[in-house]
Amino acid sequence: MDTAEIRRRFIAHFEQNTSVGAHTAVPSASLLLDDPNLLFVNAGMVPFKPYLLGQATPPFPRATSVQKCIRTPDIEEVGKTTRHGTFFEMCGNFSFGDYFKQGAIELAWELVTKSQADGGFGLDESVLYPSVLIGDEEAVALWKRITGLPDDRIVRLPPKENYWSMGVPGPGGPCSEILIDRGPEYGAERDWDAGDRYLEFWNLVFMQDELSAVRSKSDFDIAGQLPSKNIDTGMGLERVAYLLQGKNNMYETDVMFPVIEHTEALTGKKYGADHGDDVRFRVVADHVRSSMMLISDGVTPGNEGRGYVLRRLLRRAVRNVRLLGYEDPALPELFPVSRDRMGATYTELHSDWERISRVALAEEEAFRKTLQSGTQIFDLAAGDLKRSGENRLSGDQAFKLHDTYGFPIDLTLEMAAEAGLSVDEPGFRSLMAEQRERAKADARAKKGQHADLSVYRGILDTHGPTDWLAYETLETESSPVALLREGRSVDSLGYDEIGELILDRTPFYAESGGQSPDAGIIEFEGGRLEVLDVQRPVKGLVVHQVRVVDGEFTPAAAHGHQLHAQVDPEWRIGARQAHSGTHVVHAALREVLGPTALQSGSFNRPGYLRLDFGWTTALTPGQLRELEEISNRALREDLPVSWQYMTLPQAKDWGAIALFGETYDQSKVRVVEIGGPWSRELCGGTHVEHASQIGTVVVTGESSVGSGSRRIEAFTGVEGFAYLARERDVVDQLTGLLKTQPDDLVGRVSDLVERLRAAEKEVERARTAQLLAAAGRIAEQAVDVEGVAVVAHRASGAAGGDVRTLATDVRGRFQGDRPAVVVVIGDGGGKVSLVTATNEAARARGLSANALLRELGPVLGGKGGGKDDMAQGGGSEVGRIDEALGLVPGLVGRG
Ligand code: ALA
Repeated sequence: MDTAEIRRRFIAHFEQNTSVGAHTAVPSASLLLDDPNLLFVNAGMVPFKPYLLGQATPPFPRATSVQKCIRTPDIEEVGKTTRHGTFFEMCGNFSFGDYFKQGAIELAWELVTKSQADGGFGLDESVLYPSVLIGDEEAVALWKRITGLPDDRIVRLPPKENYWSMGVPGPGGPCSEILIDRGPEYGAERDWDAGDRYLEFWNLVFMQDELSAVRSKSDFDIAGQLPSKNIDTGMGLERVAYLLQGKNNMYETDVMFPVIEHTEALTGKKYGADHGDDVRFRVVADHVRSSMMLISDGVTPGNEGRGYVLRRLLRRAVRNVRLLGYEDPALPELFPVSRDRMGATYTELHSDWERISRVALAEEEAFRKTLQSGTQIFDLAAGDLKRSGENRLSGDQAFKLHDTYGFPIDLTLEMAAEAGLSVDEPGFRSLMAEQRERAKADARAKKGQHADLSVYRGILDTHGPTDWLAYETLETESSPVALLREGRSVDSLGYDEIGELILDRTPFYAESGGQSPDAGIIEFEGGRLEVLDVQRPVKGLVVHQVRVVDGEFTPAAAHGHQLHAQVDPEWRIGARQAHSGTHVVHAALREVLGPTALQSGSFNRPGYLRLDFGWTTALTPGQLRELEEISNRALREDLPVSWQYMTLPQAKDWGAIALFGETYDQSKVRVVEIGGPWSRELCGGTHVEHASQIGTVVVTGESSVGSGSRRIEAFTGVEGFAYLARERDVVDQLTGLLKTQPDDLVGRVSDLVERLRAAEKEVERARTAQLLAAAGRIAEQAVDVEGVAVVAHRASGAAGGDVRTLATDVRGRFQGDRPAVVVVIGDGGGKVSLVTATNEAARARGLSANALLRELGPVLGGKGGGKDDMAQGGGSEVGRIDEALGLVPGLVGRG
């Protein structure tokens, strides 16, 4: 039975069910749901979590789905065992307070055992073993009654196996699994833990608990009961497919195997011939599919989070194909095979194919370059080692390959082994650890005053959260709650001293969501504080970093609301313009590039904004202009700006854009709209009231920020106008200088550039002619060393290409049988340029330009390389040029 048919039967079984009632078939959600605890959707129940937890009312009492999932913690294990796949599809049925254990068991057992002719999977009862959580006698009784199996066929397993949770706080519960006995060749009888003999393929979770902490599979805290008893089941589509197709593992199904077959065709290797190769084939089949599905859902390769997982998958796929012996670009070959197997279900693989393949190919290209440069460096290091008679690559060298060239250590290890070298792996690991430590220390240092959060927590516990008024007002009377200096509580701050002030209420916006903190002042009787920074180191507590600019600040001395906190209104207007501008540019960007262009980060301060987004190619000038035009059209249309609170599922239904990496409260999020559906984003920032208040959006540039990520920068409000004014100034100055009109400026400048180029070429020609004129004279100065004409010449003021031209020309003067060796050393630019050359007759006598260069290089403090006929190098020891030239006849004589 092919995978598509299994999927169809599963959905039909639940959709048409009459015993407990029909289930609503829900299409798979994206792999990227905004659950702050999850990098990717990793189970079929994830999209239903708010219903299971009672946070939102389910629109249906029962549901069924086949959900795309990714699990990557075991990425290294893929293919080594046949149980780990990074991408899989989970078939599930769900009850939200409707049927419970009995219904779930009946439905699953029926589908599994019903004959294939009747629309079931037709598995033989005699090899099936239901399992329950030890102590769940209710489930044991149900299984016995429903299946008619004897007691010893119901397996009791501990929580590690049969209590299911997401691995993070959330819903959980005891479960029952259906295991299938694959026969003695897969392991010992009744050995439930080890081996592959008893394969579980369907997990029925009796979801009844809410967990507050999960430390391991068997160590968790149950905070209480869920508002209703639910059912969440997961049947592994891949597992059932290979069972029903009589295959050994998930890589051999009708969906996966074609990628392996194509890899066989590319590499000439056979699957099933060698264990090491088989692992590689499986890695390729798995990773090609996972990465394709991730790209399809909008992930682009990067160095963090989801992007990094994707990058690893792509690179591991490419590398494993190489290890199998195919060195040309592999993804253009393999991606289409996987697309054709998955595309009937996930049609966006076809409709969005151009983008998907573009992202994959760009990453493969980048990786190939890394491999190339890294390989060169590796070869050099290996060569040096061998020459010095050693055979161990130092930890330092391995680290440099990794750190500078992005060369993975496993690659270094493998290439070293091939070259007969070992690697100081512990040395490498300790350098890696040091680097990690440094990075952590850096991060701590950056956070600066927030190193010790317990201080803030203490303040929060004693005084409660700050009453935060940033959305309502720019100024307020308030009282001090705490004053800190260098992390410690203090009674006062002297003039010019800097400290941290916590108020009972504040109008100041703390930095978050890409918006910079407010600036302003806090007045006290007898003086003033300048607000330098505003942060929220722990949720609910706003901390102002202040400097005393007038008087001395002794807050404890007074009572009541003795402070006046005042946000700089100009600053705040600028901040609002920039933040709303960011949303406008984001919406405009998605109009220009399509909805897969998703912001991955942003920053704005008064007058300026930048927005990073996942995209692999540079924007064309036309696209940038369009972006600016669409943005300013929104301003001209004066789109209204509004915001409101709602639950996260509601916000999603609304199509509001949430950003990964942000932590959202499921039950209350703030959605900011500009022009109704045109721009809807989850955002806590401060915004203008209507779009024309942004003033203007001037897009100043676009650049790459790491592979797969681009950045747009723009000015807003008065800064935008100031930017345009500066540009006008430049044009004014240029028209003045060039004595022309603005409209003629471009023509005039390109004219000048062309003339300049022509003049440079002319100068170049003259210089070459001069050099060559000298060549004849220089050739005549050749001295004879044992029958070889030897020229050793210093070319004053010449460098690089000129030196080479001269050497070539001088050598050209020695034709025929007379052996000639030419050395020209230039000192132009304060550096040594060295070229050695031999003619054919000299080479016939065993003289090599490269050998000569290697002798001279060290004298001149440099190096270089080349071949027997010509070699070139550079150096720093200009003062030793004559000495080096003097060595030449001797070296030739010896050679
Ligand atoms: N949520 C359950 C699982 O992932 C069904 O196994």
